[in-house]
Amino acid sequence: MFKPLHILDEKDKRLRKKSIDAILPLSNEEKKLIKDAIKHLTYSQIEEKSEKYKLRPGMGFAFPQLGINKRIVVIVHEIEDGTFDEYVVLNPKIVSHSVERVAASEGEGCLSVNREVEGHVPRHARVTIEGIDLDGDKISIRARGDLSIAFQHEIDHLDGILFWERIDPKHKFFTEDEITLI
Ligand code: NI
Repeated sequence: MFKPLHILDEKDKRLRKKSIDAILPLSNEEKKLIKDAIKHLTYSQIEEKSEKYKLRPGMGFAFPQLGINKRIVVIVHEIEDGTFDEYVVLNPKIVSHSVERVAASEGEGCLSVNREVEGHVPRHARVTIEGIDLDGDKISIRARGDLSIAFQHEIDHLDGILFWERIDPKHKFFTEDEITLI
């Protein structure tokens, strides 16, 4: 039985708090939340399921969006039709990044932001993320393209930052000369 997750809306103050480090072992409730988050994100990217369960497509969750202010991110990245890579990273940190910047050409979206937001969000084109997995082993992930944007978006949530705060109201849209639009 699948039940969509309860996702906090941007109006909820818990989304604006800086989250604390996750400590292992996680509680059973936290482990279940991770499993449910992976399923929710996967289903949301499969048309038949997203229609059936009325899910807005999304590729990532940060724990504060689910009401827990701990530094855990879950990303489900579609690498080809119907094939997904799953990432669960505790205490993720950007340890290096490219000078080159990119922005999602259509702008970013967020499962906690239930309205249209116009504008490009400048992000690092490539990032290296370090953190730990559910077993406490150190992991390192190199991300580019939409996966790089997703990690930066989710790590922002851990610091209480929503994507629209990174849109410059005086310069909402970039040209291809200024930034790589993907
Ligand atoms: Ni978000």
